[in-house]
Formats: sequence, structure tokens, C-alpha cells
Amino acid sequence: MTYRVGYFVGSLSSQSINRTLSRALIRLAPPDLEFHEIPIGDLPLYSPDFDADYPAEARALKDAIAASDAVLFVSPEYNRSIPGALKNAIDWASRPWGQNSFHHMPAAVIGASIGQIGTAVGQQSLRAVLSFCNARQMTAPEAYVHFKPGLFTDDGEVTDDSTAAFLSDFMGEFRTHVERVLTVIPRP
Ligand code: FNR
Repeated sequence: MTYRVGYFVGSLSSQSINRTLSRALIRLAPPDLEFHEIPIGDLPLYSPDFDADYPAEARALKDAIAASDAVLFVSPEYNRSIPGALKNAIDWASRPWGQNSFHHMPAAVIGASIGQIGTAVGQQSLRAVLSFCNARQMTAPEAYVHFKPGLFTDDGEVTDDSTAAFLSDFMGEFRTHVERVLTVIPRP
């Protein structure tokens, strides 16, 4: 069985360490996880005025989530919360009312920061949002990556063995979580 994982990178930065982290996670993931990025950078700001007729970017967002068996959020922490661009994407995906794309969706969160606590506070914020959206979140392991120069190569190779083992375990646990959720709640 192959599981299709749509992943969100919460940063719009061309130098994003979280994008590099996403490359590392893909490299270290079990082989039966297939990944596609769900882009968030071109979405307009959400307004309920769009509910009757979503723009193409937002329809593409919802289609990409619908084509996923699970979602993975790889995001920085901004001001002890989540980046506005990511919150905007989640708001789009959660609407129109009654068409919440995250309903029963297996999900996991992870993030990297140059700060010591490695997005821990931002992830709690993201978890609260995803709870309201009724996503089936992996609760453990948690993964707070303290980024230091040289920890990853640009294409996502992890240079430190213990970090590689930790991230590999995280992705293995995510795969198990996805399988468990989908066994109980198959995707439509
Ligand atoms: C940050 N940064 C940051 N770091 C952190 O650990 N906690 C925080 O609350 C914040 N807040 C914050 C706000 C804003 C607006 C910016 C631009 C940055 C620093 C952040 O961790 C760092 O810039 C990372 O490199 C961001 O991740 P990406 O964009 O490189 O993936």
C-alpha cells in the first residue's frame, strides 16, 4: 500500500530552512510514502466573500488535499505562532462551511528554527488550529528541530547521525499513524 502525503512548507522564504527540512524528511521517509508539495504562496487572503466561487488557486489547494491520504506540515514559528501564509491556506482549506478539507485527515506537524526551542510554541498553535479542523493528528513523537548551519545539505542530506535517526523514526511513526487512521477511517 502506498500513501500519498501532501506536505505544506509554512515559509515563503527562498532560503527556507523548513523547505530544506522537508527535503530531509522525504529522503528519510519509508518508501511507501509518496510526497507532493501543496503550495500556499499564491493564495489571495481568504474572505467568506469567496465561498460561493473559489478562485483557481484555492480550488487547486482543496483538490491537492483531496488527492492526499495524509498531510504533513513543516513550518517555522513566527512570533510564537504560525506564519500568516500558512494560517491563510488552512482557512481556505477549511471552508466553505461543510466542506472542510481536513475532516478526519491524518496529519503531523514538525518545524525547524534557529531558536533553541525549535518551533515548539508555534507547533502548539498549529495543533490547536488543526484540532478545530478535525484533522487526525499524530500526537507523538514531537519534533522540534534546532537548526544549525551545516546540519543539512541544501538538498536535504542530514549530516548528523543522531538527527538523521530521529527524523527517520519520526517519519516511520507518521507512516504507522497514517495507516492506523486510514484503517478506521478510509479516505472517501
Ligand atoms: C521569526 N523567527 C522566529 N524563531 C523562533 O524560534 N520563534 C519565533 O517566534 C520567531 N519569530 C519570527 C517571526 C518572523 C516574522 C520571522 C521572519 C522570523 C526566526 C525563524 O525561526 C527563522 O527566520 C527561520 O529561518 C524561519 O524559517 P524558514 O523561513 O527559514 O523556514
